[in-house]
Amino acid sequence: AKTLWIDTDTGSDDAVALVMAFQNPNVEIAGISVVAGNISLEKALQNALYTRELCGAQHIPVYAGLAVPLIRGPFHAENVHGEDGMGDIGLPLSGRVADEGHAIDRMIETILARPGEITLVTLGPLTNVAVALAREPKLATAVKHCVIMGGIGDGPGNVTPAAEFNIYADPDAARMVFQSGMPIVMCGWEISCRHAVVEPADTDELKRVGGALGAFCVDIQRFLVEFATKISGLPGIDLPDPITMAIAIDPSIVTKSSEAYVEVVNADGPALGQTIVDRKLHAGKPVNATVVDSASRDGFMKMLTDAVTRPVGG
Ligand code: BDR
Ligand code: CA
Repeated sequence: AKTLWIDTDTGSDDAVALVMAFQNPNVEIAGISVVAGNISLEKALQNALYTRELCGAQHIPVYAGLAVPLIRGPFHAENVHGEDGMGDIGLPLSGRVADEGHAIDRMIETILARPGEITLVTLGPLTNVAVALAREPKLATAVKHCVIMGGIGDGPGNVTPAAEFNIYADPDAARMVFQSGMPIVMCGWEISCRHAVVEPADTDELKRVGGALGAFCVDIQRFLVEFATKISGLPGIDLPDPITMAIAIDPSIVTKSSEAYVEVVNADGPALGQTIVDRKLHAGKPVNATVVDSASRDGFMKMLTDAVTRPVGG
C-alpha cells in the first residue's frame, strides 16, 4: 500500500482528489491537513470533512492548518469554485468538526514517526508545509516524496501569464518548500490541461457508473466548467489536483519527466509566483525537483472511474 499525507485547500477539484485517495484500496491516508487557498480555511475544512463523510472515511483524521499566507494577504478563487468552494450546488457544508490538534504538529509527528514511508501530496498553497519545515527541518528528509500540484512547467499560468494559483497565493511559502531539500515531484497546471481534461461525454459516464459519488464529483465543478471552457479554452474541465493525486498514488502514470532546478519567484512584479523550470541547469544550481512533462490520460481516467465506482466505506 501507498501511504499518503494530504495537504489540501479543499475546493471542488481537491474534493475529487480526496475521493480518489479515500476510495483506493491500495492507499493508506495517514492524515489530512487543510490550508486556506481556493477559499477560506473554515470553508475548506468543511468541504474536506463533508467529502470524508461521503466516502465513509471518518477514521481518517482531518486537521485545521493555517488560515492566511506567510506574509501576504489572503487570495481566494471563488470565481473558479463557487462561494462555498463546491460549486454552490446546495450541499450542507457546515457544522462538522475537525480532528483535534494543529495540522502542522500532526503532520510533523506523523511523518517523522515513519521516516521514508510517507508521500506528502500538496493540493493547495504551500503555507502549512513551509511552516512545518521551518518548525522541523528534518521533515525534508523524512518524507518519501513531496508531490506538489503547483506551478507551471511549460506555458501560461491560470492566475497571471506567469503564475499558477497554488504558487501565486503564497509564493514565499512555495519558495521555502522548493529550497528545502525535499524530494519534490512537481505537477504543473498545464499537465491537467493536457492530460486530465474531463469532457461532457466523460462526465456523463462518471455519473452513469458512479451513482451518487460520480454525480458529486461532476456537479461540484459547476463553476470550474465555466472557467475551463470560457477562459482556459478547454473542451471540458481540467482536474489539476486529481491528476496530481493519481501520480502520487501510481507514479507510472507519468509518461515523461525532467530533473530540474525550480526557482519560485517571490519578488513583486509581473513574474510573482512564477516557477522557473531550469531543465538544462543553465543556472548551475543543483536539481531540486522532478518535473512532470506528460502523463497518461487513460491511466488517470481509469483511476478516477474506479474511485467513483467502488462502494463507499469499503
Ligand atoms: C490549483 O488551484 C485550484 O484552483 C485547484 O484546486 C488547484 O489546486 C490549480 O491552479
Ligand atoms: Ca487545490
